Amino acid sequence: MKPLIVILSLTVLAMGPVSLQAAGPSVPLDRVAVDVTDQAALQRGARLYFNYCIGCHSVQYMRYNRVGRDLGLTENQVIESMIFTTDEEGELTGPGALITNAMTPEYGEEAFGVEPPDLTLVARVRGEDWLYTFLRSFYLDDARPLGVNNVVYENVGMPNPLWELQGWQEKQVGTNGEARLRVVEAGSMSGPEYDRAIRDLVTFLSYLGEPMQIERQRIGMYVLAFLFVFLGLAYLLKKEYWKDVH
Ligand code: HEC
Repeated sequence: MKPLIVILSLTVLAMGPVSLQAAGPSVPLDRVAVDVTDQAALQRGARLYFNYCIGCHSVQYMRYNRVGRDLGLTENQVIESMIFTTDEEGELTGPGALITNAMTPEYGEEAFGVEPPDLTLVARVRGEDWLYTFLRSFYLDDARPLGVNNVVYENVGMPNPLWELQGWQEKQVGTNGEARLRVVEAGSMSGPEYDRAIRDLVTFLSYLGEPMQIERQRIGMYVLAFLFVFLGLAYLLKKEYWKDVH
């Protein structure tokens, strides 16, 4: 029996990375561990998103007030920090609305060659490691219309929206022939600070892709606690039932 189990687990282990590679890009991705129950990280990530991304990328499968509730924000905070659009009558969009923006597909295509996609589900499509690496991998490239390229997403149509924070990177080929990115013009954040900011942003994107995961982890803890208590009770009960048998 034992060899069979060993063989089976080895097969599963061997299959894991292979199937992941088949679906992923050829560049190695940096790993990131996000914690969607960290509300402060979610708030920092949301702040970055609503300052730097919402103009181009809608989150149209989510509502402002749902995000506000999950992030522990008051309705006023939601209105002040997240809502920048107006409705057809020119009134500020209400907090119950879906998170859209003013970018039309035509404008997006004209300006960037491709419409910026909605990002509600991007963390589920691309994965957290991909996003974390992608957002840190822009570099200067004169051959591109906007002067920037990305290692993870070759010839991307998006400029680096966070250049003020990260600064500008250049691709340099080392003596071993491996390409590396180096900051050649500093931004307002140091490297580790920028990495942390991107981790917060990816945390927020991960939450957007699956808002229930916050709740699920909380409920999971209760379920485990209950099972633990129940284990004790079941054990006592078993002792009670069997005490006359022995
Ligand atoms: C000036 C407009 C603009 C801004 C601002 C912007 N993006 Fe983009 N983004 C684009 C465009 C255009 C694309 C499509 C690029 C392509 O397919 O070549 C894109 C693509 C992406 C993709 C890849 C989506 C996919 O799966 O193909 C991600 C992820 C992304 N953006 C994240 C962000 C984040 C996070 C921010 C804020 C920090 C941001 N973007 C800000 C224009 C923008």
